[in-house]
Amino acid sequence: MTSPKSNPLANIDWAYLEFYVGNAKQAARFYSTAFGFEQIAYCGPETGVRGRASYLLEQNRLRFVLTTSLQPDDDVAKHVALHGDGIKDIAILVEDARAAHDAAVAAGARSVLPPTSLRDEFGTIVKATIATYGDTVHSFIQRDGYGGVFLPGFIEQRKASGAVAKAGLQAIDHCVGNVGWGEMDGWGEFYAKAFGFSQLVSFDDKDISTEYSALKSKVMSDERHRVKFPINEPAQGKKKSQIEEYLDFYRGPGVQHVAIATDDIIETVKALQANGVEFQDTPDTYYDALESRVGQIDEATKTLRDLRILVDRDDLGYMLQIFTKPLQDRPTLFFEIIQRKGSLSFGKGNFKALFVSIEMDQARRGNL
Ligand code: FE2
Repeated sequence: MTSPKSNPLANIDWAYLEFYVGNAKQAARFYSTAFGFEQIAYCGPETGVRGRASYLLEQNRLRFVLTTSLQPDDDVAKHVALHGDGIKDIAILVEDARAAHDAAVAAGARSVLPPTSLRDEFGTIVKATIATYGDTVHSFIQRDGYGGVFLPGFIEQRKASGAVAKAGLQAIDHCVGNVGWGEMDGWGEFYAKAFGFSQLVSFDDKDISTEYSALKSKVMSDERHRVKFPINEPAQGKKKSQIEEYLDFYRGPGVQHVAIATDDIIETVKALQANGVEFQDTPDTYYDALESRVGQIDEATKTLRDLRILVDRDDLGYMLQIFTKPLQDRPTLFFEIIQRKGSLSFGKGNFKALFVSIEMDQARRGNL
């Protein structure tokens, strides 16, 4: 029997997301100027790291690492050649990296990096990594009072954001994986066994379908609802599901979107628009029925309509959300901006509006 105390993943949080990209220097400037991140730290040949370079970007509780290869054929270069720019590592902050790793491996996870102590003059970090869907991995990070700016190997190297408007992005809310046909339940079980997560909610193709395309989704979460992993798989529709389009272009399972929390979505969306971020459009008719669907809310419908922000409600409250266009040329990874006002919802009531919008883009790309 596993009691909450004996679960090494009971008291966890997001550590960072590591992106593998074709040009980390330029990607760092894109995420800084468009989304308001500051550059905090760097590692590369100048810091004694051979063959690759990484930039740490930070904003409130968000940490993104952008890593590129300086070689034609190492793991990073091969990952980028196959998948394009994407998220490699969803790293989790844990109290005991060895216990988290060993428990996950005992539950069937594949070890990528056994528990390893990384040291410099600021102290020690213990890092261990396991594989999840596709080529995506989870590192367990144990900081143990480490006093450095990020991880051993990185040096502090600060560059201001360069964004024209302050984005106010706060923290990761959830991180969504797309997996192949019939694979969703297996990956749900993986997070139940290897992480001790439980299922928060699930949707089937009756909930999430348009005339053309369908998907199934379930959300796995830690007990504090801090770290949430929705998992999508395609479902049969008249035409190609947007999940299939992702799988075709990413060449397999991977991270579809990262939802980033803000305390004021209206100000955040205005700022991101001023910084040049492009969002999915929403059919105008969505706003005609908004009040009757979600009831009384604090925000004016006209403002939400102007900014194309979506609203969904559950028994606990409501939430506001909007989705960006893909962040690279392949129609793969995108961001969601979310503000929760009590609700634990993942926007079930908005999937249809989002899908109609994505399908219009899919048709423009010739992939519907
Ligand atoms: Fe989401």
